[in-house]
Formats: sequence, C-alpha cells, structure tokens
Amino acid sequence: MKVAYITGASSGIGKATALLLLSSNNYKVVGISRTKTITHANYTHVNFDLSKPENLIDFKFKHYENCNSYILINNAGIIEPIAHIGNQNNQDIANLYNVNLVSPSILTNKFINEFADKKLPIKIINISSGAGKRAVDGWSTYCASKSGLDLYTETLNTEIALKKQHHIKVYSIAPGVVKTKMQQSIRETKKNDFNSVQKFKDYYNNDELYSPEYVAIKLKLVIDNPELFKNVVFSVRDF
Ligand SMILES: NC(=O)c1ccc[n+]([C@@H]2O[C@H](COP(=O)([O-])OP(=O)(O)OC[C@H]3O[C@@H](n4cnc5c(N)ncnc54)[C@H](OP(=O)(O)O)[C@@H]3O)[C@@H](O)[C@H]2O)c1
Repeated sequence: MKVAYITGASSGIGKATALLLLSSNNYKVVGISRTKTITHANYTHVNFDLSKPENLIDFKFKHYENCNSYILINNAGIIEPIAHIGNQNNQDIANLYNVNLVSPSILTNKFINEFADKKLPIKIINISSGAGKRAVDGWSTYCASKSGLDLYTETLNTEIALKKQHHIKVYSIAPGVVKTKMQQSIRETKKNDFNSVQKFKDYYNNDELYSPEYVAIKLKLVIDNPELFKNVVFSVRDF
C-alpha cells in the first residue's frame, strides 16, 4: 500500500488526482486543505489553512503500517492578487507566498526529515506553472512563487544526488491550462489588472483547457513510472 499526501485535494487538479489514486485501491490519500469534499474509506482529511504556515510547525506526517511508499504532492495554490505591482493588496501578497511557496517548503522539509532515512521509495511532486518560467503582467507574485518552487525542487534534487538517495524522486510539474476554479478567477479579472485576460477567455471558449482528470492521469504516470522521467522540472505538455 502507498500513501499520498496531497495539498489542495478538495478541488481541481488535487481532487482529481486524489480520486484517481483512491480508485486504484492500493493508495491511501491524506488530503490537506480548508474544506473536505472527498468521502472514501481510504481517504483522510486534514483541515489546514496553508496561508498560515506558522501553524505547520506542529504538523507531523504519519507513518502507516504496511506502507511501502510515501508521496507528497504540493498542489494547493492560489493566484490572487492579480494586479499590477503597486495595486496589490499586501495581505494577499503574503498569503500567496505562504500557500504557494512557504508551506510547500515546510511540508517538504518535514516529509524528507520523516521518511528519507526509511529507504522506502519516496516521491515529491510540486505543482508548478508555465508562469514560473516567464513574466506575466499582473501575476508577479504568482510567477515568482512558481519560479521559486521550480528552483527549490532542483536544489532538493541536487542534495539528493549528493547523498546518493536514489530512493527519493522529486519533480516540479507545470500542469498546462486546466479547467478549474483558478482558471475561472483568471477569466474574471479586469484587463487593467491582467492584459492577457482575453487570451484565457478564448482558451475557455475554444475548449482548449485540459480537464483536471487528464492532468491526474499524467501525474499518476509519473508516480508509477519514475524511471521514465529523467528531468526534474517539466510540463504535462512534454509527455
Ligand atoms: N488551473 C490551471 O490552469 C493551472 C495552471 C498552472 C498551474 N496550476 C496549479 O495547479 C495547482 C492546483 O490548482 P487548481 O487549478 O486545481 O485550482 P483550484 O481548483 O482552485 O484548487 C486549489 C486548491 O488549493 C487549495 N487551497 C487554496 N488555498 C488554500 C489554503 N489557504 N490552505 C489550504 N489549501 C488551500 C484549495 O482548497 P481549499 O479551498 O479547500 O482550502 C483547493 O483544493 C495550483 O498550485 C496551481 O497554481 C493550475
């Protein structure tokens, strides 16, 4: 049996991934978010607001009997504030970095500390974004957080290689443009705050968004076949 910890398992990509893993019967899923939307015998919910990472200090990853592999998917993410620098709400800036970068760093630190010495296969997947690779007006904090997540993951991979911890695999994966609540809030943005908003409305109107279920299948492919994935930072579009 494998145990997957998934942040943001209540919606979108996280929920689709949790449900896909649960459907295969050899996974237990622990979802970490503010709301619970999954009911399943092998699902455990941890109610947590990741915008308050100081509360994570007491959080402990649980060991499960008969578990032969642990997975952490840092998926929870927010895109607000969408506004040009100078017009952003300052609390929103702090919340975004806390959810998208600070909490994933603390959870990863705790996860490695808890499981790395067990010699069981361990995987960490950080859900990044194409916006971590290029500047997008109105998305400065989001771009910076996802860029940070990519480099954080690469640094972790460097440390794992140095220590020859071949049982640990880490990835930072951009999911593409996916039909979730996050895309809905992007489409609702004013042009003054985000110049390319029409492009995202067009993606939606032309039915060009991936479904969360499609992204979940891709993520499971990575989890189940790490030998096929040599890169650390890549996109769902690449395979
Ligand atoms: N959709 C896209 O096109 C797209 C593109 C590139 C990257 N991504 C990335 O994909 C990931 C998943 O996003 P999604 O599109 O699936 O969005 P979504 O449907 O809005 O889901 C976001 C998830 O994050 C959780 N979350 C948000 N704030 C939280 C907080 N303070 N504490 C705990 N959990 C919190 C939410 O749970 P609660 O509200 O229950 O707390 C929810 O489960 C994000 O990292 C996003 O940046 C998405």
